[in-house]
Amino acid sequence: MQGLDTVRSGDESHMTTATTCASASLAVPGEARRGRRVEEAQALLAMRPVQASPSGEAGRDHASSGTQGSPPALAIHNLQVVYGGAIEAVRDISLEVRPGQIVALLGSNGAGKSTVLKAVSGVLDAEDGEIEKGSILLGGQAIEKASAPAIVRLGMVQVPEGRRLFQTLTVDENLIAGAHLQDGAKLAAGREYVFSLFPRLADLRHNIAGYLSGGEQQMVAIGRALMSRPRILALDEPSLGLAPLVITEIFHSIQALREQDGLTILLVEQNANRALGIADYAYIMENGRIVLDGTSEQLRRNADVREFYLGLNTGEGRTSMKDVKHYKRRKRWLS
Ligand SMILES: Nc1ncnc2c1ncn2[C@@H]1O[C@H](COP(=O)(O)OP(=O)(O)OP(=O)(O)O)[C@@H](O)[C@H]1O
Ligand SMILES: [Mg+2]
Repeated sequence: MQGLDTVRSGDESHMTTATTCASASLAVPGEARRGRRVEEAQALLAMRPVQASPSGEAGRDHASSGTQGSPPALAIHNLQVVYGGAIEAVRDISLEVRPGQIVALLGSNGAGKSTVLKAVSGVLDAEDGEIEKGSILLGGQAIEKASAPAIVRLGMVQVPEGRRLFQTLTVDENLIAGAHLQDGAKLAAGREYVFSLFPRLADLRHNIAGYLSGGEQQMVAIGRALMSRPRILALDEPSLGLAPLVITEIFHSIQALREQDGLTILLVEQNANRALGIADYAYIMENGRIVLDGTSEQLRRNADVREFYLGLNTGEGRTSMKDVKHYKRRKRWLS
């Protein structure tokens, strides 16, 4: 049974540690207990990529639509990822995110999108996953063997699928947990920055995260990642389970992060319509492979994307994927 003082991240793999830490904090009163709970949360984050980074300012010199000529912010070459030594979740994929771009990685359930994000964030170990082949370059530096904290220090932070907040901590405490290596002034500036992006969080700062709405929780998850001042933000399905108006709000914030602060963004989404609405470029994954890529405009015009990912009838009398033979789609995508 979890008490209110138990630090819960929503991540089952860390629950035991969290519970152990939390039980030790029960005897600590008031402010001291609050501090202890945040420390516990920080200890958990140390195992994950959402962590403080000394990399400093966000990339304010990035052009809003991507900087031509400079090395890619993130480049993946021929990546292959296997779980448990047997399940090949990602097969020979290559992709590129240029500085200041929003690049979407689209695909249906089980396509391998999250696995790609886990690989670039250095967190595959926790799930018995392994990079079998390929390379990942962050600003030109090879990171396929780097630890999650090292990748965060290099300036890339992931906002994981399902948000994984510390459910029993307040909004404020969740934000502080994302910045534990920073001094007081930087921490205060970081929080102000998050509150300027999500003004609603300022009013909710003392509320328990677990009681917030899904949209508010997503804001906290993004805010917590921003506390480490990343240059690249990797977002895993930020629209998941949210109402249309809330998705609009979140996606406006993602755009603002790129336009106002020059952040480079890798956006994993099942919601192709929304993602193509803000992305410069997108890749579509199926069964661990990239089957199509192009600018958002090109993909929006593609008949298969319109039909299968945007839910638009192309006028050829086909309304669902099961009405079409798989080889036909593959043939057209690969041609
Ligand atoms: N920890 C794991 N152990 C074994 N297999 C896994 C693990 N995580 C994912 N897989 C498998 O790898 C494949 C890709 O999963 P992944 O989570 O990357 O897909 P996804 O595109 O993110 O799907 P979704 O849209 O449902 O989140 C799936 O077949 C999945 O079952
Ligand atoms: Mg996923």
